[in-house]
Amino acid sequence: MRKKIVIMPGDGIGKTVLPEAIKVLNAVDFDAEYIHADIGWEFWCKDGNALPQKTIELLEKHKIGLFGAITSKPKDAADAELDPSLKGKGYTYFSPIVGMRQHFNLDICIRPCQSFKGNPLNFIRKDSKGNFEEPIVNAVIFRQNTEGLYSGVEWTNPPANVRAAFETHPKWKKFKDVPNEELAISTRIITKNAATRIIRAAFEYAKKFEYSNVTICEKPNVLRETSGMMLKIAKEMVKEYSGIALWDTNIDAQMMWLTKNPEDYGIIVAENMFGDIISDGFAGLIGGLGFACSANIGQEVAVFEPTHGSAPKYQELNPSIVNPIAMILSACMMLDHIGETEKATKIRNAIAKVVEEGKVRTYDMMKLRGGKDVFQKGAATTQQVTDEIIKNL
Ligand code: NAI
Ligand code: MG
Repeated sequence: MRKKIVIMPGDGIGKTVLPEAIKVLNAVDFDAEYIHADIGWEFWCKDGNALPQKTIELLEKHKIGLFGAITSKPKDAADAELDPSLKGKGYTYFSPIVGMRQHFNLDICIRPCQSFKGNPLNFIRKDSKGNFEEPIVNAVIFRQNTEGLYSGVEWTNPPANVRAAFETHPKWKKFKDVPNEELAISTRIITKNAATRIIRAAFEYAKKFEYSNVTICEKPNVLRETSGMMLKIAKEMVKEYSGIALWDTNIDAQMMWLTKNPEDYGIIVAENMFGDIISDGFAGLIGGLGFACSANIGQEVAVFEPTHGSAPKYQELNPSIVNPIAMILSACMMLDHIGETEKATKIRNAIAKVVEEGKVRTYDMMKLRGGKDVFQKGAATTQQVTDEIIKNL
């Protein structure tokens, strides 16, 4: 049956890479109708809303979104660029991605970090004899996407009743003389329901794709309540999964280990901010932003996107220099999600071939500094990389 996919190119290079992913989807005969939806900076400036209601309605209706990237800017710049007729009318900028995650409760974020053989950007290290080793990295980060330190419950100069609540905690003693105006508080809220959902999703993925371990990456020795809850749930849940081991690591130690022996890790689960950090860490080992794909999955709606942003400094370059692979891999995650795994595998195999052959590479894979001169140095355009992937399907 023909699928309906809501496409949100957004800003900058989002507009460049999303059409490339669609070319590849067409080339594997994925039968879909693509419905364009507006999102991003332009709609903030014009209408005071970067996530138009129409876009929300389209996602509500069709359930699957493919998203490029958006530009967001600090508060002052946002205010300055707002259409003069809207100024002073109480419009405040908020990130449409965060808005989308909150509105549809896209609480499960999956970020696979899997190295392609022959990618010059892969992590390498020396063995004891001084020879180079290139371990295969195959980690999938499950980041809780809606709560934790990014839940947005925070104050500067907290109201009296909030302060009074904090005063009841024995550890507040050291803050008791701090004037209210000198206090900033951000909370780390984790609910049992959301923690259970992300940990369940991780175990199910481990089972489906035959990973032998699931790691809870938190810091329960210090964050006894929130990290402690995550670990406790995981310890109960692992009993339902014979053949899968539960590991737990602390976020700080994990960041060290992933730069020493990243091949040891499979599925990793973490709270919002820790997941953000670990997934960037692992992405660096497999080629960085040009390769980092992601899925945001809720109970009804799912949105697939590369983790990179709109890269404004490259948006005007024509032909484009940026790597389309992160976007194409995000489209593969969409195919997996809707059960088209064969097509997804076919595309991933074609990408693997192109990377390994190394004949057609965007500037990042050639370790060049980005700019319009990269073609003289042998880099391929965005479109040439897509064409080569299609040729190898
Ligand atoms: P960015 O991800 O847009 O770019 C950082 C740098 O990474 C680029 O200058 C480029 O050198 C490289 N890069 C990014 N994508 C690449 C690709 N596909 N191929 C090759 N190289 C690539 O992050 P930056 O510069 O911090 O932010 C730019 C804008 O994007 C900001 O307005 C920011 O708020 C927004 N942003 C949006 C995100 C999203 O839409 N999910 C995520 C991150 C940033
Ligand atoms: Mg990030």
